[in-house]
Amino acid sequence: MPPAPISRVRAAAPGRVNLIGEHTDYNGGFVLPTAIPQRTRVELVARGDRRVTAHSANTAEADTYTLGDERRRGDWLDYVQGLTWALREKGFVEVGGFELHVTSDVPLGGGLSSSASLEVAVLRAIRDAFGLELDDLSLARLGQLAENEFVGARSGIMDQMAASLADESTALFLDTRSLEFRRVPLPAEADLVVIHSGVAHEISGGDYNTRRAECEEAARQLGVPQLRDLTHADLTRVERLPDPLGRRARHVVTEDERVLEAVAALERADLPRLGELFRASHNSMRDDFEVSVPDVDRLVELAQADEDVYGARMTGGGFGGSVVILARRGQGRAAGERIARAYAEQSGRNPTLLVPPPA
Ligand code: GLA
Repeated sequence: MPPAPISRVRAAAPGRVNLIGEHTDYNGGFVLPTAIPQRTRVELVARGDRRVTAHSANTAEADTYTLGDERRRGDWLDYVQGLTWALREKGFVEVGGFELHVTSDVPLGGGLSSSASLEVAVLRAIRDAFGLELDDLSLARLGQLAENEFVGARSGIMDQMAASLADESTALFLDTRSLEFRRVPLPAEADLVVIHSGVAHEISGGDYNTRRAECEEAARQLGVPQLRDLTHADLTRVERLPDPLGRRARHVVTEDERVLEAVAALERADLPRLGELFRASHNSMRDDFEVSVPDVDRLVELAQADEDVYGARMTGGGFGGSVVILARRGQGRAAGERIARAYAEQSGRNPTLLVPPPA
């Protein structure tokens, strides 16, 4: 007999901001995310039958389905359905029905992994309620499986790893191929600032999957299993690929190098160098990978021009979302407010300063 479920559990998981290493994860490369203070919180009450009923603070009506009869509906419940589907696929048959209450202050469409924080929070609650043997790494993989195979976004593993394993005082330096990771302390000499541009991005949208397919095609034409297998020495051959494959692959190869350099810069607290790497990363995402949008470029440029800023770049999948800024210690909030104000005036958008969080 499996142990009786614990009837009521609470769990949470944070959103993430990626410092550098964008669109490298599904190419087997390196990433460097850190947790943000905003998180998804869930409360789970075991029901004793096969129904799942989910309430979110954003939707008036409860959504419901039966375990074993998960079907994609194109709304937020797909993430929950995807998780119970993935758990069953992996043999966790002891999961029973439950009531779920979800609240979150991770903005949707902010490029800060609201979906991965939901997935990891729900998985933590299910793990505790039904006594599942799941370590933090397996939990991240289950979240990715749900997202890839059930929700239909072909995302990499970065966001779920960050939601499961990152904290706010370190950056998670992750090799997405081996899944080896190391926590690198964030420099005490700098403030991290995150501003949501007010342009919502849509990760399940086709552009993300198109970029991924382009990378896979570039790897195929270059005769390597993944773009991760290329280095600086291969750039000449990379650049000979037909457009846009050459530029896509160049972004990934140079971005992987920038992550390694950024880790070294973090470790010696070389903030000016880190700032340059942020800048180069943003330019590469804008010009080679083409995942930025004009308003986000404007926000990044305003930040880069600020006297208290070392560097700034768009973070996350792109096509909108947030920017991450490295600012002089003690100046983060003032600089963030100043930059957001100038951006709102110029763009007519409604930006939000998310980090540092409201006092
Ligand atoms: C999204 C995906 C991640 C990663 C980033 C881009 O956040 O979920 O797996 O690919 O985009 O770096």
